[in-house]
Amino acid sequence: WLAPALALFCGYLFGSVPFGILLTRAVGAGDLRQIGSGNIGATNVLRTGRKGLAATTLLLDVAKGFAAVKLAPLLGGDPESMMRLAAVGAFFGHCYPVWLKFRGGKGVATLLGIAAALGWIYALVFALVWLAMVALFRFSSLGGISAAVALPIAAFVRVDLGIFFLFGALALLVLWKHRSNIGRLLRREEPKVGGSKKPRP
Ligand code: G3P
Repeated sequence: WLAPALALFCGYLFGSVPFGILLTRAVGAGDLRQIGSGNIGATNVLRTGRKGLAATTLLLDVAKGFAAVKLAPLLGGDPESMMRLAAVGAFFGHCYPVWLKFRGGKGVATLLGIAAALGWIYALVFALVWLAMVALFRFSSLGGISAAVALPIAAFVRVDLGIFFLFGALALLVLWKHRSNIGRLLRREEPKVGGSKKPRP
C-alpha cells in the first residue's frame, strides 16, 4: 500500500504548486485571486495583460501534471496504477492545494499534462477540442470544459476502460470547478478571450 499512497501524495504535491500565483507575485502584478475571475490559472493571468506570463503559467501547469504522472512509476508498484493514482493526486493538488486553504484552480492545464502523460492521442484530442471551441466561441472556460469531456469519450472509443473511468471522474470535477463559469455562460456574462469585460469572481 506504501507505493500507491506515495503516488497519490507525491502527485498531490506536484499539482499543488500554484504557478499562476507565484509568477504573478514574482513580477509584482499583485494577487491573482484579486484579479478577474480570481482563478489561479493561465486564463486569469492573461487578464493581467501579460501574455508571456500567462503562457509560462500554462506551460508549468501542464508540466506539473505531466511530470507527476510520468515520474510515479519510479516509486515502485505497478506502473499503470501508479500513473493513474498520481494523475488523481496531481489533479486534486491543483484544484485543492493545501497552501491556498484548498481554494485552487479549475484543472484544465493540469489535465492536459496528465492526458499527455497517459497517451499522446489524449493530449491531441484535448488540445484540438480546446482550440476549436475557443476559436469558434472565444470562451476559455467552454474550451476547457469541452476538452475535458472529450477525454472520456476518446478513451471509450479506444476501449480503454480504466482510463475512461479516470477521465470521466476528472471531467466531472472540471465541470464542478467551472460551475460559476457555466452560470455566466448561461447568463451570457462570461468574458471572451481577449475581451475587456472582467468576470465577477
Ligand atoms: O482554465 C480555466 C478556465 O477554463 C476558466 O478560467 O479565469 O475564466 O474562470 P476563468
